[in-house]
Parts: sequence; structure tokens; C-alpha cells
Amino acid sequence: MGVMGRVGVCDMEKKVNEVVVIDGVRTAFGRAGEKGVFWKTRADDLAVALSRALIQRNPELRPDMIEDSIWGVTNQVKEQGGTLGRAVPMLADWGWEIPGCSIDRMCASGLTAVGFGVGYIAAGMADCLLAGGVEHMGHLPMGFMRDPHPRLEEVMGGPSAFNMGMTAENIHDRFPEFTREMADRYALSSQQKADRAIQAGKMKQMIVPVEVERSDGTRVVVEKDQQPRPDTNLDSLAGLKTVFKENGRVTAGNASGLNDGAAAVLLMSEKEAEASGLEPKMRWVSSAVAAVDPTIMGTAPVPATLKALDKAGLTMDDMDIIEINEAFAVQVLYCLDRLGLKADDPRVNRWGGSLAFGHPLAASGPRLVTFLMNLFRENPKARYGLTTLCVGRGQGYAIIWENMQG
Ligand SMILES: CC(C)(COP(=O)(O)OP(=O)(O)OC[C@H]1O[C@@H](n2cnc3c(N)ncnc32)[C@H](O)[C@@H]1OP(=O)(O)O)[C@@H](O)C(=O)NCCC(=O)NCCS
Repeated sequence: MGVMGRVGVCDMEKKVNEVVVIDGVRTAFGRAGEKGVFWKTRADDLAVALSRALIQRNPELRPDMIEDSIWGVTNQVKEQGGTLGRAVPMLADWGWEIPGCSIDRMCASGLTAVGFGVGYIAAGMADCLLAGGVEHMGHLPMGFMRDPHPRLEEVMGGPSAFNMGMTAENIHDRFPEFTREMADRYALSSQQKADRAIQAGKMKQMIVPVEVERSDGTRVVVEKDQQPRPDTNLDSLAGLKTVFKENGRVTAGNASGLNDGAAAVLLMSEKEAEASGLEPKMRWVSSAVAAVDPTIMGTAPVPATLKALDKAGLTMDDMDIIEINEAFAVQVLYCLDRLGLKADDPRVNRWGGSLAFGHPLAASGPRLVTFLMNLFRENPKARYGLTTLCVGRGQGYAIIWENMQG
């Protein structure tokens, strides 16, 4: 019998599973470098702490239910190399039976891990997965051990595409309606919202305390973010020098920082969640990835979001809560404007964003998902929410979710 003759032999029914988020956690975010709280802690140990915490927080969940451990990691060398996602479940002392992999889409590595996990479950390949992101920018600085193709600079549109701060300067230059003053004002609001959320105890529900060794050899439990600067004001921001080019507009105050941290999400099929008695918090609606000119990479959440909205048959008006990553203030200002939102829209980053908390690259996507999950709980009338971020070399990733805590 020829190949054609075999078509139809397998009549397995194919259907799309509903995918839900059960829980989301993160470590505190540290500052990269010797003064960082995680300077003496490995990236893989941060991922292990979160994996174990997801089991502890959800007693109905057993490690043997987890069918894959998918970790976003941008710099996959040294402690972050060797398929970190595979090592993590074994390091969590769950044995060798749980598979794992690592995914790189730079800053969207972690959100892509979540997105791939969603696709997996929707397609019926699994019912329960762990998807996370981790980055230790202190141990593995951006661009570390990279060897770009000699033609890459040319095909990306010039050297500025390699320097994320310069891509933000490019947005300022090409769209001068977004001024330094607006960027500083936005950065200040992020710090203020983050501080209010921290003071109100909102971070406690998601931060997994991690015991670490300090530089002096003593041990301490890290459970607070190191980066936020609650004393930020417009004058101090205005006084900061531009970092990436002379007389530019991007400063340490209106850029996200260099950070160490991890975040992780537990994904399940809705039917498996129901069967195991785990409470679903939000349901996947649609996802999209899009690409833009790498020299203005921060604009990419716009096409990614529009595509995800289109797939879902929704509009920005339907989004009750919006979690957009703040790599740089100017790229958020651009994205909000092009998505028809004001810079101070109350639906956007209600608990602040990466300008305040920091941006440990791959960890930021699952952090956005975790923020949204908690914000949905506090806003039971909210129906839809968006998580989106921009990616070095010109990509954007967006996922839309539906609140199940209403
Ligand atoms: C911008 C950047 C270079 C700054 O790094 P840094 O110099 O180590 O940053 P610091 O936190 O030490 O801040 C530098 C100065 O600004 C000051 N500062 C930073 N944020 C401030 C704020 N909100 N208010 C007032 N001052 C602030 C600091 O106090 C420090 O002052 P000092 O030099 O007098 O001590 C770095 O954070 C960076 O590269 N960010 C972008 C990361 C990135 O590209 N990520 C990928 C995105 S796609």
C-alpha cells in the first residue's frame, strides 16, 4: 500500500484543550554584580527554588504529574547552559523521570516558554507543565561569549541593533514626540506604583524566599527586590547623565536595570486541573509573536499585541489589565501610544514594572504572567488581560488571558 493509501489509518480524534494557569511565583530580583543579593547564588538554584515552591504551594500537585520543565534562558552558557530545564527537576530531587528543555528568545525566552507550554497542552501533548525563565546577568552579562555572524550587523540595520540602550535612543530620535521628560515621568510613575504595591504587601504572595550566602560568608534569606528606588523624584531623574550616547535621552533612571532573578508558572489543561482539584486562575486566550526593525526593537509589542487581539477577536478596549514589560520608558510610551492608550492609563502595570523591579531578561515574561494572575484575583470584575514584551534583535511576544477568579 502506498503512502496515500495509509491516510486515515490513524483516526485519533484531535481537539484543542483549554489551557489554564494554576500558579505563578518568582524570586526577589537582585542587582547584577558583586553587590547583588544573588552574587554567590547560581541561576539554576533559583530555578530549583521556584520549582520546589510550586509543589509546596499546591499540595494536590506531585512532581510526577509534571510532563515537561520548560525554562527560558537567554544566555545558555556556564551555569545557564547544558539544558538547564532538564537539570532543574533532577536538582529539585524529583528523580530523572521529568523531561526538560531550555528556550532562547532573548527577553521573551520565559514568555516563549509559557507560550510553548500553552501550545503543547492545547495540542494534547501534555496536561501539566512547568514553564519559567531565569537570568543571572551578574554571572552571564548580556552578550557574554556570543559570536555574531559577520553579516548580522549589516542585515539588522547597523551597530545600534546590538545595543539595547541605543535601540531606545533610536526610538527617541525617530519619534521625537516622546521626550526625555515624558520618559522620566513614566519611570517615576513606575517607581511610585511599585512602591505602593510593595508597601501594601502585594509582592509577598508571589516571592519565594531564597536563602543565600553573602559576600562575607554569612547566610541570609532574600525575599525583597533590591532594585526599586522609592526615593526617586523628577529632579533626580532629570539630573542623570545619558548612558548610551552623548546628549541622548536614555539614563539609568528611565532604563531597566541589570538583574538576577527567576519566575515560573504552572500550566495545566483545564480538565486535568479539575480532575486533580487544583484551582485554575486564568485561561489562555491567544498568543502571537511579531518582528520589527531590530534598530527599534522596543516597538515590537505593538504588532505582537495587535496580532494576538486579532486572533482572539478582541480589541484593546477589552483588556482590563495590561502587563507590558518596561525595558526602557520610551519604548513603553511608544507602544502605549500606538495601542491607543495614555501613558497613565490605570490598566497598565498597576504594580509598577521592570523600570522599578529590574529586568532579569528571561525571567520577566513569567513575572508579567504572575503579576497578571494576582491582579486578576484582586480585580474579579476584570475579564481579559494582556502580557507582552519586546525582544532584542526586533521581536515582540504577546499573550492574552481570561480571568477565572471572577
Ligand atoms: C542603564 C545602565 C547602563 C545603568 O547601569 P548602572 O550604571 O550600573 O546603574 P546604577 O543603578 O548604578 O545607576 C547609575 C546612577 O544612576 C542613579 N540612578 C539610577 N536610577 C535612579 C533613579 N531612579 N533615581 C535617581 N538616581 C538613579 C544611581 O544612583 C547611580 O548614581 P551614582 O553613579 O551616583 O551612584 C544599565 O542599567 C543598563 O544597561 N540597563 C539596560 C539593560 C538592558 O539593556 N536590558 C535589556 C533590555 S531589552
